[in-house]
Amino acid sequence: MATVPVRLGDRSYDVLVGPGVRASLAGVVRRLGAQRAAVVSARPAEWVPDTGVETLLLPARDGEQDKTLSTVEALCGEFARFGLTRSDVVVSCGGGTTTDVVGLAAALYHRGVAVVHLPTTLLAQVDASVGGKTAVNLPAGKNLVGAFWQPSAVLCDTDYLSTLPDRELRNGLGEIARCHFIGAPDLRGLPTAEQIAAGVTLKARIVEQDERDAGLRHLLNYGHTLGHALEVATGFALRHGEAVAIGTVFAGRLAGELGRIDQARVDEHLAVVGHYGLATALPADVEPEVLLRQMRRDKKAITGLSFVLDGPAGAELVSDVPPEVVARVLDRMPRERAAGAVRT
Ligand SMILES: NC(=O)c1ccc[n+]([C@@H]2O[C@H](COP(=O)([O-])OP(=O)(O)OC[C@H]3O[C@@H](n4cnc5c(N)ncnc54)[C@H](O)[C@@H]3O)[C@@H](O)[C@H]2O)c1
Ligand SMILES: [Zn+2]
Repeated sequence: MATVPVRLGDRSYDVLVGPGVRASLAGVVRRLGAQRAAVVSARPAEWVPDTGVETLLLPARDGEQDKTLSTVEALCGEFARFGLTRSDVVVSCGGGTTTDVVGLAAALYHRGVAVVHLPTTLLAQVDASVGGKTAVNLPAGKNLVGAFWQPSAVLCDTDYLSTLPDRELRNGLGEIARCHFIGAPDLRGLPTAEQIAAGVTLKARIVEQDERDAGLRHLLNYGHTLGHALEVATGFALRHGEAVAIGTVFAGRLAGELGRIDQARVDEHLAVVGHYGLATALPADVEPEVLLRQMRRDKKAITGLSFVLDGPAGAELVSDVPPEVVARVLDRMPRERAAGAVRT
């Protein structure tokens, strides 16, 4: 088992990674001094271990469709009926959609009640449940309403992953692959628990320096500028991690084109992403112009096109990348031959 501390002064907490770590829940709840727990679980009830205190179990569903303000309202209503106080605890168990929506409910209920996450997907273990960002979707877009609310503990029980479909595993591997270019050691070939612990350690070190996303946290968006555009352009037929993987290959090529890295490092992007079994080519049916237009709308594109790019001093946010260079690199990206070939 690995323990990764996230050091944020009085908001510090530990992320436990390994088989069976969910069994630490009762100890965590006891240390928090909570008298009651509201457990929101998208997984079967028996997946959540005993909390050691009076517990309300609220079944939930993973998925973007329930990551809404109405779910937050419904959860808070249940917390109130149960008599949950500010010194009690909320527990989430599920994928990143569940940790996000439950995290926001915990941030808002009584202006903030402790929350412990039990993430059950690889993506949620390596990324979504750590770092304190919570959000829900609006019809106008994803993650538009949220809050920073650090959990009190995160228990990444790798036993949960045994039932995860291959595609959801790959989804998380996309986020692990991009760690290679933002300061993690080479994680290829390591056991999954070690890859998760390394990814969480990297995120923790970045969040410790930039809890509220004012600068350095951009690094975590390596591969995400094109990744987000691909998700939208394919109508979310690509999973987030799959799109980020292609975006990572693209970021390598763009950095190469701008003279920031040599060809060997460009090729390393392809090798790393390919190693994790992720597609590296653009889907056949997306138009480069559509991707370009979408990238201009990216949150980080304040003035022009912005990308987190590798370079002599490591990865950094590069603003005002000339659109013609981006278009050229996009045109030269390898393409899947048949439409949907990357969608298994
Ligand atoms: N807050 C953050 O910092 C942050 C970071 C990254 C992503 N996110 C958010 O995370 C969400 C994506 O998370 P996700 O990829 O986990 O998606 P998800 O929550 O939709 O789960 C993916 C699928 O896996 C299934 N599943 C979950 N656990 C399982 C298990 N153990 N066995 C079998 N099936 C299981 C779910 O039912 C679902 O169908 C997005 O909404 C994204 O915005 C947040
Ligand atoms: Zn991501």
